[in-house]
Amino acid sequence: MSAIVEIRDLERLARRRVPKMFFEYANSGSWTESTFRANIEDFAPIRLRQRVAVDMTNRSLETTMVGQKVAMPVVLAPIGMCGMQRADGEILAAKAAADFGVPFTLSTMSICSIEDVAAATKKPFWFQLYVMRDREFAGDLIDRAKAAGCSALVLTLDLQILGQRHNDLRNGLSAPPRFTPKHIWQVATRPGWCMRMAGTRQRTFGNIVGHAKGVDDLSSLTSWTAEQFDPKLNWKDIEWIKKRWGGPLILKGILDVEDARTAVKTGADAIIVSNHGGRQLDGAPSAISVLPEIVEAVGDKIEVHMDGGIRSGQDVLKALCLGARGVMIGRAYVFGLGAMGQAGVRMSLDIIAKELDMTMALCGERKVTDLSRMNLYHSGQQ
Ligand code: GLV
Repeated sequence: MSAIVEIRDLERLARRRVPKMFFEYANSGSWTESTFRANIEDFAPIRLRQRVAVDMTNRSLETTMVGQKVAMPVVLAPIGMCGMQRADGEILAAKAAADFGVPFTLSTMSICSIEDVAAATKKPFWFQLYVMRDREFAGDLIDRAKAAGCSALVLTLDLQILGQRHNDLRNGLSAPPRFTPKHIWQVATRPGWCMRMAGTRQRTFGNIVGHAKGVDDLSSLTSWTAEQFDPKLNWKDIEWIKKRWGGPLILKGILDVEDARTAVKTGADAIIVSNHGGRQLDGAPSAISVLPEIVEAVGDKIEVHMDGGIRSGQDVLKALCLGARGVMIGRAYVFGLGAMGQAGVRMSLDIIAKELDMTMALCGERKVTDLSRMNLYHSGQQ
C-alpha cells in the first residue's frame, strides 16, 4: 500500500474497498454535478497571504462551536447510510471523532440508530433531523436524541424532496443491497466489506425500523424520502422543533442572504452555509463562494458554519478566513471510513489537522481563532 498523505489517497482506497453503489452514493452530486464540482473547485483560486519571520511556537487549533470546545473547528457531517460504507460505520466514526475531540453528527438516515451510537460511545454527539410528515415520529426522534444526551440538533432545511442523483438511480441503490446479479457482483468483489457486514446486525435504517409506522419500501432512500419527508416544512416549524429540543439548534442548508436573515429570527444558535454537498439543487453556487456575503449579512448575529468541498486543512483555513466559525466535513471522512474504518476516520482528521496547522503557521498565525480575511492575499495589500 502506498503512503497515505492526503484525503485523495483515502478516496482511492475507499473506491477499491466499498461496493460501487455505496461509494458512488457518497461521492456524487445531483444531476450534472456542476455544484458538486464547484464546491471543490472554488477553493482553489483563493490565495493565501504568506508572512515570514513570525514566532510560530505554541500553535493551537482549539476553539468552540455553539459554545462547545473543539480540538479543531471541524465537525463530522451527517451522512445517510454511513453504516453502508463500512459495517457499524456510524459507531466507528463517532468513536474516532470523540477520541480526536471534535463532534460527530448522526444522520436521521443512518444505519446505526441513535441508541446504538449512544451505547457504544462515551461523549455526546450531534443529531441531524429530517422532519417527516408524521410529526409524532419527528417529535419522537427529537426526544430520543435528547434521551441519548446529544449535544446539538442539526435541522436540515434543504432536503424536503430528494435531488435527482443519476448514479443512485442507475445503481439501484438500497440498504441492504438487493439480490440481483449486478448487486451481488458489486458486493462479492469487496470481501472485507462483506465479512464485516455479516458480523453486524445493523444493515438498514436503524432510526426508522421498528419506530415509524406504515413504511413500505424502507430500503430505498428515494422512495422513503418521497413518501415520508414533509414537503410542507417551513420556517414556522422551527418554533416547535426548537421548543421540543430545548438545546443548541443549528440550521443546515442556508445558501441565500435572505434565508440567512430569516434564520437569525428563529433564534437558532448557528447556521450552516451549505448546498448539501452538491446533492440537492444542481446549479446552485458553491458554498465557499456565498459564505462571504452571508457572513457579511448575519455574521455578527449568529454563528456561521459551512460545508461542501472541503478536502484539506487548507480548505478549512480558507473557510475560517472568510468568516466561518467552523466547518463540516462529509466525504473527507467517509473516504477514511470506507478505506480503513475507525483508524481511517482518525487518519482523515489527522491529515486535515496537520494541513490546517501547517498552513496557519506559514500564514504567520498561531491561533485558529485569529484567522481572518487579513490572511488572504489581495494584490496591493499593505
Ligand atoms: C442524505 O442526506 C443524502 O444527501 O443522501
